[in-house]
Amino acid sequence: TPSIIPKPVFLRVTDGALKLSSPFKITGPSTEEGGRLAGLLEESLRSRNYEADPGGAVPVNLTMVSYDSAVKEGFHQVVVNDFGVQISSNTGAGLFYGIQTFLQLLPEKGTSDRIAPVNIIDYPRFPYRGLHLDVSRHFFPASFIKQYIDWLAFHKFNYFHWHLTDDQGWRIEIKKYPELQKISSTRKETLIGHAGIPENFDGTLYGGFYTQEEIREVVAYAAARYVTVVPEIEMPGHALAALTAYPSLGCTGGPYQVGTKWGVFQDVFCAGKEETFEFLSNVLDEVVSLFPGPYVHVGGDECPKDRWKECPRCQKRMKTEGLKDEHELQSYFIQRVEKFLNSRDRRLIGWNEILEGGLAPNATVMSWQGEQGGITAAKQQHDVIMTPGGWCYFDHYQDTTKGEPLAFGGFTPVSKVYSYEPVPSALSTEEAKHVLGSQANLWTEYVTSPEHAAYMAYPRACALAEVVWSPKAARDYQDFLNRLQVHLPRLDKMGINYAKHISKEFTTKPTNP
Ligand code: ACM
Ligand code: ZN
Repeated sequence: TPSIIPKPVFLRVTDGALKLSSPFKITGPSTEEGGRLAGLLEESLRSRNYEADPGGAVPVNLTMVSYDSAVKEGFHQVVVNDFGVQISSNTGAGLFYGIQTFLQLLPEKGTSDRIAPVNIIDYPRFPYRGLHLDVSRHFFPASFIKQYIDWLAFHKFNYFHWHLTDDQGWRIEIKKYPELQKISSTRKETLIGHAGIPENFDGTLYGGFYTQEEIREVVAYAAARYVTVVPEIEMPGHALAALTAYPSLGCTGGPYQVGTKWGVFQDVFCAGKEETFEFLSNVLDEVVSLFPGPYVHVGGDECPKDRWKECPRCQKRMKTEGLKDEHELQSYFIQRVEKFLNSRDRRLIGWNEILEGGLAPNATVMSWQGEQGGITAAKQQHDVIMTPGGWCYFDHYQDTTKGEPLAFGGFTPVSKVYSYEPVPSALSTEEAKHVLGSQANLWTEYVTSPEHAAYMAYPRACALAEVVWSPKAARDYQDFLNRLQVHLPRLDKMGINYAKHISKEFTTKPTNP
């Protein structure tokens, strides 16, 4: 039986075998999308040392079909028999997923001259299947972002959450505010290790940002792989980098310094000044012009209220708006930004703290401090995306081996990720419909290079892929490990520097797909 990750809904091994004696001949729908998908497949085959040629004798047909009834997003079928490979769907996304499955059916070049005959029918369990990357604490070049997207798309994830701003660096070019590039994108130095008394710093300037041209490229690259990019612009907290360039946006007026260590800072955007909302509206206008997807994430987490309590403007705002405390002021802030985003035809996502003081009317909640935020929001009939730290934080340790690279803390091995159930048992069937899916977050305080990011993300992302894609009833950790053992060499071929500890848990001898 072929080892596909995430596990398909239906897979049957049939009779015969497809011989791989000559190049593949790829045909697809004669549309722009069909041409693009055929091109992607051809590229993927070449990168695996297979040839594709219009005169080839092994047909791979991509077929757009129409289904009578409404089927789920991403529904597709993959049939391999003596005559060739047939991938069909009613959507481009479905064809793309079928292609990813086919690439996993393909034996490593030179190891076998046939593909197992199969009939696969597949579709995802959840509509939101995400991976996140923090590029503020450490910066990752656009070339790596594309790889990261390539890898997640291979595992049938469909959202990339790009954490673009935070205290330690602003990473997105905003033409109207050039000081964000000049000042907010760079910090003076970086704390060494977790903390320490006294604190030690590396004394080295650290910075970087994406030009709007690079962002457009990444967004297009993602779209071609049916991945939607969710940009995150943090507010009202985690804003120290922006305040450093534009100190009048803070309650005290500064001066401020782009964060050189980790944690939560008291200086946040002033909620009393109109200038703050003008700035954020202008920033978000450029953001929505770059990101065509439905969502903009505005953070909303970890916003201390110390400055607001002391600030006459914030206090005045509370009086004139009739807000009873600073939590309601945060709610006012997020609701105002939501109105703006809705006017631009975008939906707001925030971390679960946006519940405090009252949810903005149309907000989607990302539950990270356990499941409770997600439960509360779903009970209020808001959409939720589950990213609870204990299962979905890939900045945690994944093994107890000595010599692991420094991590945030915690312990979230592959088995723990695999055990995650995104629908909390506290929700009724109706409420559970608001759980759009789940996402893993990779915060990068201690993740300093692309290789290290890959190490933290994989193979844990393989486990989460199955959590969000495969039917709940199909989940079986031992079966997953058996398939993962076959899957890991595919990751090697793709150049993914995944963590190897999981091999300790493998009990069967490796086989080829
Ligand atoms: C978060 O981890 N502060 C969302
Ligand atoms: Zn203020």
